[in-house]
Amino acid sequence: MEELNNRINELRKEKNAIILAHNYQVPEVQDVADYIGDSLGLARKAAQTDAELIVFCGVHFMAETASIISPDKKVLIPDLEAGCSLADTITADQLRAWKAEHPGAAVVMYVNTTAEVKAETDYCCTSSNAMDVINSIPEHKEILFGPDKFLGSYIQLMTGRENMHIWDGACHVHEKIGDLNLGEKQKEHPEAEILIHPECGCSTSCMLNSTFYHDCKDAHIYSTGGMIDFVKESKAEEFVVATETGILHRMEKENPGKKFIPANEESVCEFMKKINLQNLYEALEYDRYDVKVPEELAKRAIKPIERMMAIG
Ligand code: 13P
Ligand code: SF4
Repeated sequence: MEELNNRINELRKEKNAIILAHNYQVPEVQDVADYIGDSLGLARKAAQTDAELIVFCGVHFMAETASIISPDKKVLIPDLEAGCSLADTITADQLRAWKAEHPGAAVVMYVNTTAEVKAETDYCCTSSNAMDVINSIPEHKEILFGPDKFLGSYIQLMTGRENMHIWDGACHVHEKIGDLNLGEKQKEHPEAEILIHPECGCSTSCMLNSTFYHDCKDAHIYSTGGMIDFVKESKAEEFVVATETGILHRMEKENPGKKFIPANEESVCEFMKKINLQNLYEALEYDRYDVKVPEELAKRAIKPIERMMAIG
């Protein structure tokens, strides 16, 4: 491992590269990254960097977003199989058909979508700025929100926005994190703060005061970046964390002495875990795999991304 780390460090310098990693990456990839963050933070970092080469340790739509924002830079993903089940729940054809049913509606898509879907979108959002994006749209305007139904229902509950239609998509990892998991963990750790990613199956019912989850008003619903900030500032000693378990590495590393309990130990995204130190090294050594969005498509897809980056 030390040898791989050394080689990655040499190549990073030699090629003027930056390594960006999502909060769900395996520990050894997080530890070698220049920047670790949530979707919005990573997109902003990709837009700001002076590096010539971006190695994206995350999933494909994130690398694609980086390539759209920085068309003059080379963007690599160490494994092309690093997809996203949520992004796969809506295609551009499906979105076009949905728009045809609601002419004039504003289209807000979570950033977990393909470039083709973004090209049909008015605003992208992430879990950290979805509320601000929705609130920036005039109240009389109908909204089509997708593809995540749990994030959509949560935002609808928080904003009271009635003229919002929600796509029926979900992430296969987060939708399985439910009230039962939280109810159990809460009984075992009554003093713990509860952190929930809005993609979770339980996020909406928490807001609705579900019968399983008694203390809903005390749950904190955040993006992965929001969770990282919250645990740093909180005086609590224990946290139940309802999201992909990769985030626990960073939480533990940055907060010695605090205890982090996954809401569900099986919440592992196999797509995020496609990337490891070996294929990260190979990406740098052999310049692979290029993520490049065709110019015409990128020109259309950049508009909603720029709006997303400007809000929240
Ligand atoms: P964040 O933007 O909160 O990091 O979420 C990205 C994601 O894919 C969650 O599954
Ligand atoms: Fe996609 Fe879910 Fe994996 Fe996030 S955790 S990258 S939403 S499949």
